[in-house]
Amino acid sequence: MLARTCYVTLPNPMDDEQYKRLRAEVATRRTFAIISHPDAGKTTLTEKLLLYGGALHMAGAVRSRSGGRHTASDWMEIEKQRGISVSSSVLQFDYQGRHMNLLDTPGHNDFSEDTYRTLSAADTAIMLIDCVKGVEPQTIKLFQVCRMRGIPIVTFVNKMDRDGKDPFELLDEIERVLGIPCSPANWPLGSGSSFVGVYDRWRNTTLLFDGGLRSQRVGMHTIELDSPELAEAIGENALAKVRDEVELLGTAGTAFEREKFLSGQVTPVFFGSAMTNCGLDPFLDHFADLAPAPRARITTSGILAADDPAFSGFVFKIQANMDPQHRDRIAFLRICSGKFLRGMNVLHPRTGKTLSLARSVQFMAQERTVVDEAYSGDIVGLWDPGVLRIGDSLCEATPVEFEGIPRFSPEHFVRVRLDDPLKRKQLKKGLDQLSEEGAVQLFFDRRRLERDPILGAVGVLQFEVIEHRLRAEYGVRIG
Ligand code: G4P
Repeated sequence: MLARTCYVTLPNPMDDEQYKRLRAEVATRRTFAIISHPDAGKTTLTEKLLLYGGALHMAGAVRSRSGGRHTASDWMEIEKQRGISVSSSVLQFDYQGRHMNLLDTPGHNDFSEDTYRTLSAADTAIMLIDCVKGVEPQTIKLFQVCRMRGIPIVTFVNKMDRDGKDPFELLDEIERVLGIPCSPANWPLGSGSSFVGVYDRWRNTTLLFDGGLRSQRVGMHTIELDSPELAEAIGENALAKVRDEVELLGTAGTAFEREKFLSGQVTPVFFGSAMTNCGLDPFLDHFADLAPAPRARITTSGILAADDPAFSGFVFKIQANMDPQHRDRIAFLRICSGKFLRGMNVLHPRTGKTLSLARSVQFMAQERTVVDEAYSGDIVGLWDPGVLRIGDSLCEATPVEFEGIPRFSPEHFVRVRLDDPLKRKQLKKGLDQLSEEGAVQLFFDRRRLERDPILGAVGVLQFEVIEHRLRAEYGVRIG
């Protein structure tokens, strides 16, 4: 038998060959989220990740919203209208032999509750910083959540094609404001309109950007740091400055140590432009190597290794009516160990019942594909007739409960008044389902005879979303 590295001992449903295959599959999983302040470029970077990962053929193809931007991950009506990303969804693509699960999180502060829960399902985070604005408030909040959870962070300083802050100033700001040492993995060659490439410190290579269409993958070619081509591209003075800076980093910069990165004590920093694609290739190549495979999870009965052969996972998100045509409810499950097989019977510890996971999907914007098998680290969408709740675990045989799925106290309240009293039943159904998604909490004032429900939320924008969804999905107007 192969050695198992878990502290919780679940029954092993696999033979040696199956277990070997499981371990190989789990080792290729990378599950990550992008954290940033709104407008730092998360939508743009997400789209480019999909483009470079071959999941989209042309960036911008899915960005058809008038007067705003839209990625493959933004699919809800209100997101289209408001130009904000409200709900978190999951996008899957393969990159250099890794199976990537990108957890898309809403950037707006009012939806941070959803983001915090989604981060509980991530193993790595990309922290996106706008080089003009530096570290912004929402970035600080999300960074702290990642730090609390011990999630390793890779930093991408975006918009280098604009005249932003000096790279040293940015590193200093990240270190000062967030309290994490920065280790630049690459260094920008030029800035603003003369940002032409990056010097890759880890590979000791200078990469000059080939230019080209923003909607397509564009290459970079290797040159010497003292080549005339580079001097011509950014000017003699800028080149001399780059050489000095690279030398300075070699002697005075924070060294990168993988162990420290994995324990959140250092962040590797990459410079680039998600919009022009300059610097994306080297960033993605390194990111695929940096991002760790699924980590062990803490359960109420001990630590569970990601490659434990018995299947287990937890629900971190529930979304009703993802497909308005089918009026269904999808529970997003992060698999924490073992192998998922469509149709398998699993234990639902909260109710003690056995559930058959017959309808399972993976997502790419509105496109769903049926998933027959998935492994620890993957996210699967489970069709849910109303049984599952956020934080529920599902497992094979022995019950396990996962720790650390956050719950928040609401800070804003509104009383719901129904325009048409005949729609009370629909209102109840809508509010029940939407509150089970965790975006709002439902209360009733016991002291009053009238039983108008009260909604509580962390951010006021959530009320607007609920009002909109009640109208669009349940045909109920509220005042
Ligand atoms: P978000 O999801 O984090 O909110 O940001 P998003 O990608 O929507 O980007 C916000 C704005 O920043 C967009 O401009 C986008 O084009 C721009 N942007 C993103 N990455 C880069 C970059 O690398 N360089 C530059 N210069 N700009 C970048 P917008 O004017 O709001 O929209 P649009 O007119 O481009 O559609």
